[in-house]
Amino acid sequence: MRALVVGRYGPPNVFELQQAPDLQPKAGEVLIRVKAIGVNFADLLQRMGVYPGTPKPPFIPGIEIAGVVEKVAEGAKPGEGEALRAGDAVVALTQFNAYAEWASVPAGRVFRLPPGIPFEDAAAIPVNYLTAYHAMFTMGNLQPGNRILIHGAGGGVGIAAVQLARVRELVIFGTAGSAKQAYLRKIGVHHAIDYTSSDFVEAVRKHAPDGIEMVMDAIGGKSFARSYQCLGPTGRLVLYGFSAGAGTGVARSWLASLKARLQTPRFDPVKLMGENIAVIGVRLTKLLSRPALLRGELAEIFRLYGERKIKPVISRVFPLEQAAEAHQYIHDRKNIGKVVLVVK
Ligand SMILES: NC(=O)c1ccc[n+]([C@@H]2O[C@H](COP(=O)([O-])OP(=O)(O)OC[C@H]3O[C@@H](n4cnc5c(N)ncnc54)[C@H](OP(=O)(O)O)[C@@H]3O)[C@@H](O)[C@H]2O)c1
Repeated sequence: MRALVVGRYGPPNVFELQQAPDLQPKAGEVLIRVKAIGVNFADLLQRMGVYPGTPKPPFIPGIEIAGVVEKVAEGAKPGEGEALRAGDAVVALTQFNAYAEWASVPAGRVFRLPPGIPFEDAAAIPVNYLTAYHAMFTMGNLQPGNRILIHGAGGGVGIAAVQLARVRELVIFGTAGSAKQAYLRKIGVHHAIDYTSSDFVEAVRKHAPDGIEMVMDAIGGKSFARSYQCLGPTGRLVLYGFSAGAGTGVARSWLASLKARLQTPRFDPVKLMGENIAVIGVRLTKLLSRPALLRGELAEIFRLYGERKIKPVISRVFPLEQAAEAHQYIHDRKNIGKVVLVVK
């Protein structure tokens, strides 16, 4: 099969199109013919060698696919996989090995698609919407009228969070660079904040002097401390990424990682108790050991999609062979929404 392989950690041009060995599904796995691949910020970090758990090169990166079941191997755990049949359209969370024509994935990480979802949309749903949904509603228990600040509101997870916030009737603050301000207002962000020209804590406090209920922060470093300052009693700070540690370049920057690490606050439990504030960590790959939870959350997300209340925004589609261009496009921050690779 053809696969896009990271031959060494580095900039997007490290990708090599290679002929990889054909896959035989192991016990409990589902063999999937890949149709579309969701490109995530995590893939860029994997390629740069800064994503936790990334194998040594050579390896195939990527964490989510949409495709068609070819074969279901025996041996899936009860409740996982037995309902899947050859020919079913599915999405799957692969944890590496997504950038290829085929993937073999443990049955618990494969989810049947309801009818009527094109593969390109499907590949743009699981990571972004599960991350946002899990943070906001499973961990965060947000209620109508609550106020949320979403950093990177023009990015993949950010747009998913904005759409879900609208469904739950939240008051939405969102940050993005200058070029994305009009877009944020268009998708329903009530208070769009240009973090390049204004202080987001001041902007939030201006409209909510008593502090808000949630901040979703995947920037990391000093941003975690600043986000905390936006919260009032019952506030929840969701930490779910560390983009600052990646720096602004296309290859690993030890200096940027170190600087962001040193700027990361330490939260004092006694202070958290005194202020009635929760700090919540979210990591989707950690939840792969909770397939029933993910299945329930995804069912709700697909229901909202079916009712046209949410819809992934696809910024651009590239053929699999152009994964390097797709990564560069995200590094250049040209994407508003999701980048998807398709397998012809
Ligand atoms: N914990 C989890 O399970 C989980 C799951 C999915 C994603 N994540 C994390 O969530 C974050 C967003 O992921 P995504 O896939 O939504 O990314 P994305 O679509 O590329 O959006 C990220 C946004 O963040 C802003 N940004 C800030 N620092 C950046 C940097 N150094 N490089 C590029 N963009 C930067 C950009 O907005 P502006 O141009 O407006 O600044 C960009 O639109 C990443 O940190 C990712 O690792 C975590």
